[in-house]
Amino acid sequence: MNWKAFFGFIALVVLFVAGVGLLMFLRRPSAMTFFFTADTQGYLVPCGCKVIPAGGLARRATVLDALRKSNGGERVVPVEVTHGFADRGPGRALLNEEMGRFFAREGYLVGLGSYDLLLGIPALREAAPGVPLYLAGEKGLPGSKEFRLGGWGWGPIGDQGARLRVIFLAETAPGGVSIGDPLEAYRREVAEHPSERTIVVGQLSPKTLTELFKMQPPPLLVVAQWQTDVTSMPQAVGPSWVLFMGDRGRRSATARIQWTGKEFNVLPTIRYLGPEVASVPAVEREVAQVLDQVAAVNKAALAKLSHPAAPGRAYVGSAGCKTCHAEAHKTWSLSSHARATADLAIDHQQQNPACLQCHATALGEPGGYPQASVDLAGVGCEACHGPGEGHPGRAMEMQPAGPQACGACHTPRDSPLFDAAGYWKLIQHK
Ligand code: HEC
Ligand code: HEC
Ligand code: HEC
Ligand code: HEC
Repeated sequence: MNWKAFFGFIALVVLFVAGVGLLMFLRRPSAMTFFFTADTQGYLVPCGCKVIPAGGLARRATVLDALRKSNGGERVVPVEVTHGFADRGPGRALLNEEMGRFFAREGYLVGLGSYDLLLGIPALREAAPGVPLYLAGEKGLPGSKEFRLGGWGWGPIGDQGARLRVIFLAETAPGGVSIGDPLEAYRREVAEHPSERTIVVGQLSPKTLTELFKMQPPPLLVVAQWQTDVTSMPQAVGPSWVLFMGDRGRRSATARIQWTGKEFNVLPTIRYLGPEVASVPAVEREVAQVLDQVAAVNKAALAKLSHPAAPGRAYVGSAGCKTCHAEAHKTWSLSSHARATADLAIDHQQQNPACLQCHATALGEPGGYPQASVDLAGVGCEACHGPGEGHPGRAMEMQPAGPQACGACHTPRDSPLFDAAGYWKLIQHK
């Protein structure tokens, strides 16, 4: 027997098997699933919802866990579309941090929008440590991320498969930070990082989407958020798909992307995170703790703002005007001014002074909100007409409905659609 030849043969077989094994090991999967959420803001629990309480981190976690368990080990990449982080005091900052923790733990890629940028990028990084933040065209941030499907190998060797690029875009939202043209950013990103197809994610208006779909080749899928636009079902636009995902984090979506060897196939779904979706108890507990902290921080800040009324200029509350101005009171009580403080519950900020300065009556002024003895919640009569003590003996403040009377609160950021005449019609009273 020629032992040398025999061992040589065995070595060859072992090498061959190892080589095939390595190739199998390095083989890229031909399908993966993206998990999309959007407009999370401070909506960490299922609220913010006038109809059905939907959304919340703990319900998301359930859907994401189930997706990871049920898809046979295929890669799942969670993506937050945009609009998560905001300023306005430590009570709000705690919500930012909790969102950041959730995003980091679940391995999210997070797109930024025009409102997020109000914080500035260093502050965003601090608010959400370890979270990869994306926005094309924004200095200091990556604009896109590549995923390869099919083929095998590392670096330049091997069969590279097909490149799918997720591009994060945003456009200037009224009152947010000004952002360059998203279509330009798209073109640049595509030129700098060629890929077979793209997925576009971002805070983008329907108008911009129309233009995006004219690009060659058009994006495979666009997942966007714009004001209250939502699609409850995935919509086909020619060969592309579009999902509108705003609506206070009430929905999640998935897109399974498969490379067939010739083209990408997309299977999109949208899911409403209603009461039928269970919560992951650990996430629910964590969020509840954060909300307790938010309440404590805000309460302490608000307590400092209670000042006694100036002599003869006490606020009496809107109820005190009802007897003589019944019609005006009725109109007011049906308006959203009456519910302005209660509505802060949507964001867990009922006691946050940075919100109450517009969402309550005369915050922090002598005799203004919060007074223990008088109900000054909501944008009451005296928010516009001044303190009522001594009236009708003393004339109330009068200003014509217009920028002067309304502009302090109806700023471009907080009331982008404000127009004095139209808005006055909605609350007009005598
Ligand atoms: C500079 C004034 C101002 C500040 C500060 C402000 N708001 Fe508002 N907010 C407004 C105005 C004005 C509207 C009404 C906008 C409209 O309908 O045109 C509004 C509307 C809202 C609404 C109802 C609209 C909706 O989405 O249903 C919520 C909720 C709200 N604000 C929450 C907050 C929270 C939470 C804060 C603090 C983090 C805050 N606001 C701070 C002025 C303000
Ligand atoms: C958001 C601000 C705002 C709130 C809140 C508000 N008002 Fe007024 N009110 C105005 C403005 C502005 C005018 C004057 C409009 C004009 O004539 O140009 C006015 C007019 C009036 C007038 C008519 C005066 C006149 O002789 O024409 C009365 C009375 C009045 N308000 C009472 C009330 C009472 C009572 C409440 C609460 C129940 C209330 N207002 C809440 C802004 C407000
Ligand atoms: C006891 C009845 C009475 C109550 C309570 C009362 N008003 Fe009046 N109000 C009047 C009368 C009467 C006038 C018109 C006579 C006048 O000009 O003084 C008037 C006029 C006004 C005007 C027109 C401007 C002015 O001063 O002439 C405004 C605005 C107004 N009231 C707001 C309020 C608000 C806000 C409250 C609650 C804080 C309130 N009123 C409570 C009786 C009342
Ligand atoms: C002290 C702050 C403040 C002032 C002053 C103020 N608003 Fe508002 N306004 C608010 C807030 C806060 C809301 C949102 C309340 C909510 O939905 O919770 C609002 C909501 C409204 C809405 C309802 C919008 C909607 O889509 O439901 C109208 C209309 C409106 N304001 C008109 C006016 C007009 C007109 C003036 C000036 C005469 C005025 N407001 C002055 C704070 C203010």
